[in-house]
Amino acid sequence: MADEQKQQLFKDAMGNYPTGVTIVTATASNSEPIGLTVNSFASVSLDPLLILWSIDHKVSTIQEFVKGGKFAVHILAGNQQDVCMNFAKKGVDRFSTCEWSFSPEHNLPIIEGAFAVLQCKIFKTVEAGDHTILIGEVDDIQIDTDKDPMLYHRRHFASIPAEFYNQKK
Ligand SMILES: Cc1cc2nc3c(=O)[nH]c(=O)nc-3n(C[C@H](O)[C@H](O)[C@H](O)COP(=O)(O)O)c2cc1C
Repeated sequence: MADEQKQQLFKDAMGNYPTGVTIVTATASNSEPIGLTVNSFASVSLDPLLILWSIDHKVSTIQEFVKGGKFAVHILAGNQQDVCMNFAKKGVDRFSTCEWSFSPEHNLPIIEGAFAVLQCKIFKTVEAGDHTILIGEVDDIQIDTDKDPMLYHRRHFASIPAEFYNQKK
């Protein structure tokens, strides 16, 4: 199979794989908040508590994320589609489009209204092709079980009603 054809099939397969959506934030060396929309997030380990996400080498803030040593993962709620899109757009003052504040524990920018927020310190980074994988050790977790998480599939957003989970409890 030709490389181009394989790449297209890869994109089609991965785009058809449903995920949640997160926004990952950090504090840059000039103390400004930075952040981007991420769906490569995954759980890794329970002992210690580890998660991962991968960042494209083209992202303008990659060095700040890698050097900063810590980041906050916001697992988005179903009604946060606007903020989700804003944090993937160029030329937008991303943090002016949402309510946020620095966390007292880790001085990380925390965006309001997420389903869950995981504040992490970098456990390890792994170079992988045109991305860097950031593995984070989770220090703090906040969760709002009244919110429904966002789903992402084939560039479409959806949400699962909280009642779905309440019925399963
Ligand atoms: C739903 C969605 C998921 C995304 N997931 C990732 C991801 O996992 N890793 C990544 O590097 N970029 C991801 N992006 C793209 C980045 O958000 C985008 O390239 C980044 O915000 C650009 O930042 P910059 O303008 O500072 O370079 C995703 C975008 C969207 C809309």
